[in-house]
Amino acid sequence: AIIFAHNIAASPILTHILPMKTDAAPKPTRLEDYTPFNFDLSESRFDFRLDPRQTTVRSLLSLTRTAPGPLVLDGENIDLVSVEIDGRLLKRTAYRVTQTQLILDDVPDQFALNITTRCDPSANTTLMGLYVSGGRFCTQCEAEGFRRITYYPDRPDVMSEFTVLIDADKAAYPTLLANGNMIEAGDIDGGRHYAIWHDPFPKPCYLFALVAGEFDRLDDSFITMNGRTIPLEIYVDPGDAPKAAYAMDSLKRSMAWDERAFGREYDLDRFMIVAVRDFNFGAMENKGLNIFNSSLLLADAQTATDLNFERIESVVAHEYFHNWTGNRITCRDWFQLCLKEGFTVFRDQEFSADQRGAAVQRIKDVRALRARQFAEDNGPLAHPVRPTEYLKIDNFYTATIYEKGAELIRMLKTWLGDATFRKGCDIYFDRLDGTAATVEQFIACFEAASGEDMHPFMQWYHQAGTPRLTVERHQTPTSPVISQVVSFSQMTPPTPGQADKAPLMIPIRWQAIGDDGPLMDPQLTVMTTDTQTVSYPRFDVPHSLSIMQGFSAPAILRSDATTEDLIRLMGQDPDAFNRWEAGQTLARRLLVDCARALESGTMPEPDPALGAFFGALGKTLRDDSFDDAFKALVLTQPTGMEVLMAAAPIDPIAVSEAGDWLARAVADGLRNDLLQTYAAMKDSGPFSPDAASAGRRALKGRCLSLLAARFDPLAASLAAQQLDDATNMTDEIGALITLSRLGGQRVESSMESFFEKWKDQPLVLDKYYSVQAMRHHADGIHAIIRLAETPTYERSNPNRVRALVGGFAMGNVRLFHRLDGSGYRFFADQVLDMDGRNPSVAARLLGAFEIWRKLDAKRQQLIRDQLDRIIATRPSKNVLEIAQRMRGA
Ligand code: ARG
Ligand code: ZN
Repeated sequence: AIIFAHNIAASPILTHILPMKTDAAPKPTRLEDYTPFNFDLSESRFDFRLDPRQTTVRSLLSLTRTAPGPLVLDGENIDLVSVEIDGRLLKRTAYRVTQTQLILDDVPDQFALNITTRCDPSANTTLMGLYVSGGRFCTQCEAEGFRRITYYPDRPDVMSEFTVLIDADKAAYPTLLANGNMIEAGDIDGGRHYAIWHDPFPKPCYLFALVAGEFDRLDDSFITMNGRTIPLEIYVDPGDAPKAAYAMDSLKRSMAWDERAFGREYDLDRFMIVAVRDFNFGAMENKGLNIFNSSLLLADAQTATDLNFERIESVVAHEYFHNWTGNRITCRDWFQLCLKEGFTVFRDQEFSADQRGAAVQRIKDVRALRARQFAEDNGPLAHPVRPTEYLKIDNFYTATIYEKGAELIRMLKTWLGDATFRKGCDIYFDRLDGTAATVEQFIACFEAASGEDMHPFMQWYHQAGTPRLTVERHQTPTSPVISQVVSFSQMTPPTPGQADKAPLMIPIRWQAIGDDGPLMDPQLTVMTTDTQTVSYPRFDVPHSLSIMQGFSAPAILRSDATTEDLIRLMGQDPDAFNRWEAGQTLARRLLVDCARALESGTMPEPDPALGAFFGALGKTLRDDSFDDAFKALVLTQPTGMEVLMAAAPIDPIAVSEAGDWLARAVADGLRNDLLQTYAAMKDSGPFSPDAASAGRRALKGRCLSLLAARFDPLAASLAAQQLDDATNMTDEIGALITLSRLGGQRVESSMESFFEKWKDQPLVLDKYYSVQAMRHHADGIHAIIRLAETPTYERSNPNRVRALVGGFAMGNVRLFHRLDGSGYRFFADQVLDMDGRNPSVAARLLGAFEIWRKLDAKRQQLIRDQLDRIIATRPSKNVLEIAQRMRGA
C-alpha cells in the first residue's frame, strides 16, 4: 500500500508569503514565450487528509532534470507546511515562496520531492481547486485550479502518472473518488476511512479530480468494441438517481458512437460522472471522473425541458469524447485550447446530428454560432481561434475557441471529404497519443492524409473576425453556349489589434435551383483569394443560387438574392439548411428595415414581400415531408443579436419591437395554420424525450408563442389551459412565459404557484428566476432588485446568479437597456458583487456588455461609464481583462 504518514498534521505553518506587489499592470502570458518545463515528472503521488476547514495535502513527486535552471512550482492561496528532498526536511532558506510560486534554486538532477500544504475548502468561493458544494468535496482544476490544491507545475504539457490517497471522515464522506481505478480502500482510526486511486494514463494536473461525500449512485455498464465490460457510475445527491437516467443513456450512446464514427474505445476500467450544484460552467472531462454542473446532468419530464435533455445529451457526449480529444492527446499550452475544445465540440455536434437529425442540428448550431460567436467576433472581445496572449486563460473559454474552433474542423472535413478527414483523424490519434500537442501538429496529420498544402488554411487560426462573403450573379447575353457567371469576394473587417486581414480559404458549397428543384449537382468552390469567379451552364428556366449550403463556412453572406430568389429557395432548395436560411434571410431584411423605421419613429410600411413570405411559411407548415422540429425552426425568427448586428448602431428596443412586429404579422397571416397545428400537436401522449416528441412540443410552443404575439384572446386561454394541463416542464414553462408576455392578472398568481410548487427543486427554481428576470415588470429595475433580495436567491451559486443576472442582461431588453441607466448600473453592481467571490464567473457575466458599440450613442455612453466604474474599483484580473478589452485601450 502507498499510504503516507500523517505525522505533519499538527506542525506549524512554516512560511510567510511575501507581500503582494501592487499597482504594476498585470503581465500577459504570450504564446511566443513558450518554453518546455525543465524537469520530467514521471510519477506524482498525493495524500489528501480531507477536512472542510483545513485539508492537508502531501505530495511526492519524482523529478528528473531535463534542462538547467531552478525548479519553479505554481501555487496560490495555500499554506506551505514543509518541503523535503529525498526524505530530508529543507531549511526555510532553501526555497523561496511568492504569491504564486515555490522556487527551489538548488536541487539535484534526480530526486523525490515531498511538499505538505494546507488549504480551506469551505472558504473557497472561487470554485476553482478543492471546494465544498452542498457538504461534499469536489475539485475543478482546468485551467489553473490545481495550483490552489498544492505546489505543482500547473501546465498542460507536464504529464504524470497519478496515485491519490484520500482519507476522510467515514460517516460524513462515505464515497471517496479520484481518477482511474481504485486499488485499495479501508477503515482507519478515529471514524475515518481511506481509498487509493491510481490512474495508469499519464496526464496533466488540470485533469485531476477528487470527490468525497454522500451520494446516490446510478449503475450501468457498456461493452466496448473489444468486448471489455466497463461499469458506468453516476453519482448524484441522495434522491436524485432517477434523474440521471437520461444522462446514463446518453453516455452509452456516446461510447458506441465514438467507436463507430472515430474508432475510439474507452480505456480505463470504469467511468464515473458526478453531479454538483455549485459549478463555474457546464462540465469537466477529468480522466475517468467527469464532474458536471447538475443542470447538465439531471432531468426528468416534470422538471426539465426538452432543451435541457438536448443539452445533457450533447454535454455528456462532449465530456466523454474529450477522453480522446483532450485527455489521451492534450494541449501543449493553453493557447492550443481549440485543439481539444474545437475538435470536441465538432465531435459532439456530429453525434447530436446522428442522434437527432442533421439538418435540425446544423440549424441550431448555426443559430447559436451567429448569436454568440459572431457577436464576439465582431465586437471588442474578438480574438483568434488560437490567441497569442492572455491575462487570465479562464477568459478564453469562449464561443470563438469552442464554436468557431468547431467550424474550422467542419471546413476541413468539407474541403478534404469524409474519407480523407477520417484518415487524418486516425493519423492524429495514432501519431500524437500520449502527448501534449499543438494545432500545427494536428493540421500536419491532415496534410499527411491528403497531400494538400495546409498552409493557407492555418490563417483561420491566426485571424480574428468574421469574413463577409459577397456573392454576385452576372448577367450574360442570352446564348445557349455562353455560360453564366457568379463571383465571390471576401473581406474581413479589422478587429482589436489586427487591422489588416489576409484572405481566408473559404469552402463554398453551392447549387443552382429552379422552380422544380435543383438544376445541377452541388459544387464545392474553395476560395483562397480576395475574389473568385466561377461559371456554370446556362439554363432556360428561371433559377436561383443556393450559396454556402449546410453553412459551409463561418462567414456572413451578403447575397444579391431577390425576394423571388429567397421564396424559390424556401420551397425548392434540397439543402435543408439553406431552405431554412432563405426564410431567415428574408426575415432578417424585414426586421432590419422595421427596426430602423421604428427607431426613426415611423411605423413600417406593409412590405409587399410579406404575402409571399407567409405563403412559403404556410406551405412548409402544411408539408408532411418536413419534421416538426424543422418546422418549428422555420417559424423561429433570427435572434435579436443577428438583427442588432445587421442594423448597428441602433436602439436595441427598436430591434426587440421589430421582432414583436414580425411575429404579429406572421400570426395574422397564418392564424388558422397556427391554430390547427397547435391543436394537432397538442396530445402527444406520455412524455418521451426523444427528438421526434421534442419536435412536436417545439412546434406546438412556437405556434402558441406566435399566437400570443398577436394578443389573440384565444392565445391567452390556450396558454392558461396549457399551464393547467402540463405534465412536462417544456409545456409548463412555455405556457408560463407566454402568459408573462401577455400580462394580465393571471401572471402574478401563476408565478406564485410555480414558485410554491417548485421551491424545493433548485434546477426549477433557477428557471423561475430567469423567467422573472426576463419579464417587463411595471416597476422596472426595482422588481429585479427585489428578486435578488429574496431568501431563495443564492448569490454564491453560479446557476442562480446566471439565471437572474444573466437572464436579465441577455433576455430583458426593455429593462436592461433603460435609458435612465438603471439596468446597466444594477448589472455592473452584480458583476462586482460576484467578483468579490468568484472572478471567473463575474468576468463571464460581464461579457453581456460586449455589444455596447452596436448600440445608439446614449447607451454607449451609459455602458462606457459602467465599464470605467468597474475598472476604477480595481477588480480581479479576470474582470479587469474583460473590462479593459471591452473598453478598448
Ligand atoms: N474543458 C471543459 C469543457 O469544455 C471546460 C472547462 C472550463 N474551464 C474554465 N476555466 N472556464 O468541457
Ligand atoms: Zn470541452
